[in-house]
Amino acid sequence: MNTITTKKTSRSISTTSSDNTVTQPKIFLIGMMGSGKSFWAEKLKKKLKVPAYDLDSLIEMMEERSIKEIFEEDGEEYFRKAEAKMLRLFSEKKQFILSCGGGTACYNDNMKWMNKNGITIWIDEPIETLSDRLSKEKSHRPLIKDLDDEGLNNFLQKNLQERSVFYDQSAYRLNGEKLSESAFTKIIKDHA
Ligand code: S3P
Repeated sequence: MNTITTKKTSRSISTTSSDNTVTQPKIFLIGMMGSGKSFWAEKLKKKLKVPAYDLDSLIEMMEERSIKEIFEEDGEEYFRKAEAKMLRLFSEKKQFILSCGGGTACYNDNMKWMNKNGITIWIDEPIETLSDRLSKEKSHRPLIKDLDDEGLNNFLQKNLQERSVFYDQSAYRLNGEKLSESAFTKIIKDHA
């Protein structure tokens, strides 16, 4: 099995129908910027036939402006409130795969809330991978857009260290190098 599984929660959240399709997974994908949360949400959506959402995109739709504009015009604190509010709308949803923002787990008791309302999976890619990916797509990310490569690397090191305490509360942690579709589906089916 190519997953590293930590602290499994005892709650049973998803169910499996007779054709083995997972019917009610409530999955929160968390982890650093550039860890591939949106990529995996899309992949799992196709595999499991479960709707996938991107928290940042939903906030942008609600606010009718980009995340970058929200940060510039109203600041991070405003964004974090909007993020927590949008996240909590998922209490009404029966099944979903939600790709969270990199900071979602770390503010407003969101981690606690997610653990009560679904299965949290931390996608844990190494700093080098994050750095490589993000150096090519910084411009729309307000927290890193002005950093050079060295600055980005330092930011990621520090940020990961601070955030690990939250990410570490997730029900599952998938090590980036061993990530695979079957690693996710195994977790979800184990919860059926
Ligand atoms: C943030 C990550 C971003 C977005 C915002 C803040 C963060 O999401 O929510 O720019 O604090 O790490 P992605 O992880 O999808 O880039």
